[in-house]
Amino acid sequence: MMQKHFLSAADLSREAAEALLGRAAALKAEWHAGGTGLHAAWPLRGKTLALVFEKPSLRTRVAFEAGMTQLGGNGSYLSANDIDMGGRESVPDVARNLSRWVQAIAARVFKHGTIETLARHATIPVINALSDREHPCQALADLLTLRERFGRVQGLRLAYMGDGNNVCHSLMLLGGILGMSVAVACPPDYRPDAEILAHAQALAAESDATMSVTANPAEAAEGADAIYTDVWASMGQEHEAARRRPVFQPYQVNASLMHQANPTALFMHCLPVHRDEEVTSEVIDGPQSVVFDQAENRLHVQKALILTLLGL
Ligand code: CP
Ligand code: NVA
Repeated sequence: MMQKHFLSAADLSREAAEALLGRAAALKAEWHAGGTGLHAAWPLRGKTLALVFEKPSLRTRVAFEAGMTQLGGNGSYLSANDIDMGGRESVPDVARNLSRWVQAIAARVFKHGTIETLARHATIPVINALSDREHPCQALADLLTLRERFGRVQGLRLAYMGDGNNVCHSLMLLGGILGMSVAVACPPDYRPDAEILAHAQALAAESDATMSVTANPAEAAEGADAIYTDVWASMGQEHEAARRRPVFQPYQVNASLMHQANPTALFMHCLPVHRDEEVTSEVIDGPQSVVFDQAENRLHVQKALILTLLGL
């Protein structure tokens, strides 16, 4: 059994992370075979996942909703307009109420503390569907994508370009757990959180991987099996976009940066993308790009996660 909540990629032991990826791959194969096996048994019949979202979403929301439907259950989407968490109703009371009706909560929040409060007061599993600190469901889908392409995760090298943000944090932590090295190249003022970096380095020391941060994109890209980037201004930081653009321009992923990596290197992005800002159209729409595999894999990992958290 895994722990009750999934708030951080670091909540997973190596065994739990490997089991989740294995289960997601099996569910994917079943789904592509026409919904056979576990799908046909509708293990989530009568079960509801509440989606408490303070920010917009395409992938995370649809992957959870479709995933619940495909396993016989249901998703209930609650935007800030519907429940105004912390305004109309306190965060603990939202958790206490939902715990009486539904079987799990997926929450997308501005402050990571909000999701910790939800988890503290809920009697059902709470899943981090993105916070300012982490995006662990994304990292699971990304590592499943790498495992499919390379047949393994252990020993791979990923270069992350740009903002040391939530996506970067979860990649470093899950990479550290599963033995994937991460080299981050970012402007000096946008480094990943020092505490998370130290945590990822401690995990990496156990799994024969390394975690590094540099200001030099070419240095990070050297020898990389995948180059990953994300938007330069995350949700809630849109007002900083113009100021950030010149600072991040040297970290744009373009054909010349891709050439610094291994010839077989993949291009990865969590999406949504700002084409010709953090990555050129040529790269994201080119043959090395696996961004829609990453998006598809959100479905499979999130299904595996819900089944596991519900003890099914
Ligand atoms: N990658 C991702 O989480 O996408 P959404 O914001 O659309 O859910
Ligand atoms: N870093 C981005 C990821 C979006 C999926 C954000 O937080 O907006």
